[in-house]
Amino acid sequence: MSSADPATTASSGRPRRFAPAGPLKGRIRVPGDKSISHRSIMLGALAVGETRVTGLLEGEDVLSTAAAMRAMGASITREADGTWSIHGVGVGGLLQPQQALDMGNSGTSTRLLMGLVAAHAITATFVGDASLSKRPMGRVIDPLALMGADFTASPGGRLPLTMRGTFPAVPIEYRLPVASAQVKSAILLAGLNTPGITTVIEPVPTRDHSERMLKGFGAELEVEVESDGTRVIRVRGEAEFRPQQIVVPGDPSSAAFFVVAGLLVPGSDLVIENVGLNPTRAALFDVLRQMGGQIDELDRREVGGEPVADLHVRHSALTGIAVDPAVVPSMVDEFPVLFVAAALARGRTVTTGLEELRVKESDRISAMRAALELAGATVTETADGLIIDGTGGDPLPGTPAGAAVTTHLDHRIAMSMAVAGLASRAGVEVDDTRPIATSFPVFESLLDGLADT
Ligand code: S3P
Repeated sequence: MSSADPATTASSGRPRRFAPAGPLKGRIRVPGDKSISHRSIMLGALAVGETRVTGLLEGEDVLSTAAAMRAMGASITREADGTWSIHGVGVGGLLQPQQALDMGNSGTSTRLLMGLVAAHAITATFVGDASLSKRPMGRVIDPLALMGADFTASPGGRLPLTMRGTFPAVPIEYRLPVASAQVKSAILLAGLNTPGITTVIEPVPTRDHSERMLKGFGAELEVEVESDGTRVIRVRGEAEFRPQQIVVPGDPSSAAFFVVAGLLVPGSDLVIENVGLNPTRAALFDVLRQMGGQIDELDRREVGGEPVADLHVRHSALTGIAVDPAVVPSMVDEFPVLFVAAALARGRTVTTGLEELRVKESDRISAMRAALELAGATVTETADGLIIDGTGGDPLPGTPAGAAVTTHLDHRIAMSMAVAGLASRAGVEVDDTRPIATSFPVFESLLDGLADT
């Protein structure tokens, strides 16, 4: 496998050619869940006393959250053994940050922290990188403005933006217009420091880590599921938090890259340990099984209040399917790598209902269409998805000499196309691997370690 070009500079990115690999064999462990890591730092920062977190994802996005919580008064340190210790300020105790909060590439940090700031009488400015500065914040500005916060945003409701929170904020009942755990969580976090009951109505369920962890810290939170599956989530404000001991399970969204790599590369037989299998996150593995993927769950257990198992993955002949749009929220981050699996399946894979993918770290529908086409796949872009005619198991041709797929500052495009490179004839050149560090800093070393064995 080729290694990174040491001559590259920050401005040109860090390109790398991901070469075809021999069988992937052995056992690996993926880092902690990104969503749970963000929330453990935020909620720990609101509890008086010491919260201890093990298995925290030490990716750039989570470090952006930690820096922001420190800037608003929490004490957050990493101990030598990798445990994180957080001493919080108490619900309602956040302090005015002295500088703009730099959110880097992280939409989760931005939207959830906007929720926290909304119910404090403080002013905060949020800035981010070029990718984050294109992403819509109106979806959180709207409900938080109803609660009483005031916003001055860049055109289109984007970063940089300055917000003025308020205390006391007004409790609202809000029906989510988009299926978004970030919007849900922003409102619930604002509700924590708001007198009375704040209600979020969620017609389509999204990841429920906030609900689980808020209860763990002692918030009065209840979830009512209506007959049509709509979830009504109520949180009582002015909560008293108890510090927690949190064990963060492995991130299924990171495991996804190795699961697909193991399915695609002939002869592979791989165990990925400690993978979080919260049902609001794990739909990719079901979809891959429907396509014929051999993915077995070993030693199913609970870690930190979340279901976890080791995944045993073997090379499999995949068949294209029409992916049920109802599962989209439970695998919203996994479509880029599913597209790679589909590109090597037999027959056609049709995905629909993916509008939200256009406002992730990049427009993932068009970025993956362009990337897979460059690698030789047969792909058609529609308004809300991709239609992919797979090779029937033959490797993709790979990217032509002198051409690289464009990552658009999106970690998941880079990692998905790295997996495509493993299952290609000539390899896949990725223009910039730096964004991988936002969510999965050890991705390349894990991959290189497997390919070497
Ligand atoms: C996240 C929610 C999802 C997901 C993101 C993490 C979270 O975003 O794409 O990577 O931690 O709440 P949306 O809520 O915008 O779908």
